[in-house]
Amino acid sequence: MQNLDQILTEAQAAFAAIDNPAELEQAKARYLGKSGALTELLKQLGKMPADERREAGARINQVKDSIEAALNERREALRELQLQAQLAKEALDVTLPGRGKHTGGLHPVNLTLHRIEELFRSVGFAVAEGPEIETDFYNFTALNTPEDHPARSMHDTFYVEGGDLLRTHTSPIQVRYMMTHQPPIKVIAPGRVYRVDSDATHSPMFHQVEGLWIDEHVSFADLKGVIADFLRRFFEQDNLKVRFRPSFFPFTEPSAEIDMGCVFCGGAGCRVCSHTGWLEVGGCGMVHPNVLKHVNIDSQKYQGFAFGMGPDRLTMLRYGVNDLRLFYENDLRFLKQFN
Ligand code: FA5
Ligand code: MG
Repeated sequence: MQNLDQILTEAQAAFAAIDNPAELEQAKARYLGKSGALTELLKQLGKMPADERREAGARINQVKDSIEAALNERREALRELQLQAQLAKEALDVTLPGRGKHTGGLHPVNLTLHRIEELFRSVGFAVAEGPEIETDFYNFTALNTPEDHPARSMHDTFYVEGGDLLRTHTSPIQVRYMMTHQPPIKVIAPGRVYRVDSDATHSPMFHQVEGLWIDEHVSFADLKGVIADFLRRFFEQDNLKVRFRPSFFPFTEPSAEIDMGCVFCGGAGCRVCSHTGWLEVGGCGMVHPNVLKHVNIDSQKYQGFAFGMGPDRLTMLRYGVNDLRLFYENDLRFLKQFN
């Protein structure tokens, strides 16, 4: 019985020294468990004289209560410690500066396409689209470029399985549009086109904007006026140099290349303009009667012009970019500058 106080002090000290819940439960067993110190004492009660037994039993129970109280107190304390530790670990520093939100921007070529659409809409052109995978018929044959026509080799074509192809220009949209609309027709058609072609001013995927105006009295003078007016408004330069250089396309007659003065060298000649002082921005001409025949438009009554311009090059010229490939490498440091 004299051990009782010692057991209590020992238990209290042992609990206080423990700092994890599992060990605390093990320590509990040493005092209150089946073969714990107190239980052993209780077992010996039976051997005591009856008059001492009552008092001894009461004392043991008192100590047992005290040990249980110490145990519960430590349990609480450990739970609290654990909570504090977890809170500390999960703490957020709300004073840290945020990462911010970055707004994206339109790709420079899309900016140009939007601008082109806006300018042509303002003079009465509608906007049409067509598929990027085309048939030989729409891309070549209907455009007066039958098989074995030498002009086919000017377009190094990507073919897809089954004989269809990635359109090499936006001109097939002319055909599709004329097959579904009656004159007067006044439309542009922007889109992606593909050719086996790659250097500073050529890319295997690039853009074109097709233009088509068919009516009873549309002339080459209208073509020159529409194109020159467009380019001058696009570049915001009233005296921009524009020239029409005789050329050949199977689907137009007569045909011309559209050149504008090189904005990099001011006409002196540089790498971008191949030292000519001029940059080709498109092809054009009066729609060939054979094309009108393919789409059942009476070429005696109706005539008109078509053109195909390269918005990638227009974008290079407008923003002073000297390599077309920059537009397609998707380096954000480059693209960000157009936001
Ligand atoms: C044509 O593609 C004709 N379909 C244009 C046309 C339409 C003529 C209607 C008459 C009537 P061309 O191959 O020249 O023509 O291409 C037109 C323009 O596309 C070029 O002036 C150039 O600005 C652009 N272009 C051509 N190839 C590439 C390329 N690989 N990368 C970037 N731009 C290109
Ligand atoms: Mg050309």
